[in-house]
Amino acid sequence: MGKTSENDVTEDPALAGKRAAAYRAVDEHIRDNQIVGIGSGTTIVSAVERIVERVRAENLSIVCIPTSFQAKQLILENHLPLGTLDQYPQLDIALDGADEVDADLNLIKGGGGCLTQEKIIASCAKEFIIIADDRKDSAVLGRYWNKGIPIEVVPMAYCPVQLKIQQQLGGKAVLRMAHRKAGPIVTDNGNFILDWMFSSEPTPEWIEADRKLHCIPGVLETGLFLNMAKAAYFGTADGLVTVR
Ligand code: 5RP
Repeated sequence: MGKTSENDVTEDPALAGKRAAAYRAVDEHIRDNQIVGIGSGTTIVSAVERIVERVRAENLSIVCIPTSFQAKQLILENHLPLGTLDQYPQLDIALDGADEVDADLNLIKGGGGCLTQEKIIASCAKEFIIIADDRKDSAVLGRYWNKGIPIEVVPMAYCPVQLKIQQQLGGKAVLRMAHRKAGPIVTDNGNFILDWMFSSEPTPEWIEADRKLHCIPGVLETGLFLNMAKAAYFGTADGLVTVR
């Protein structure tokens, strides 16, 4: 998806928290000679800002693998070395934002529609590190992020997939529309996004829900990132950072 505007984050009220988390994670995890996965969204912009500073100051040699069109643009705009999974199928680290993080580091991702490539990159990395402002730090998934679980679907199958999600898992699966309902959002892979507004009482058993979603023909990937993250950095507006 074309998300270059997310690379301009100067008006973001949560920027201080995002930046604090991103800088600390980059300082603690980025080393010379690493292959680094670059996530998508607004928080990753601060991480790239800090990576550029460190590459210049310490003459670090790293290669960056993007998780989206937006991430690729960010890498290119900052003149960082760009690589692909064809060249580097194993990454040292992937840094990415999240829409919500629970107490066990399970995540909701895909608010920006880039979940499939983000999950592939995360799965190829030895360490998957999350950076976020502290609003995303949640005891239970769904308490903060109220826009549902993003699910990438093959366009011709979106209606039957909607129906099957609602029949098998309850709630409502809503087709994500572009600004002013100009048409469905189209992902970097040419697919649509359904946002599954699950019933939150009781909260779904996430592993089972994710398994059921993956069994529906037409579902490419879900925004449930379960048991993948190694650590999460949360920044406050005052610049304090908590690491979990
Ligand atoms: C995009 C994502 C993003 O990482 C997630 O939406 C967090 O974004 P931001 O850093 O802007 O809060 O999953 O698909």
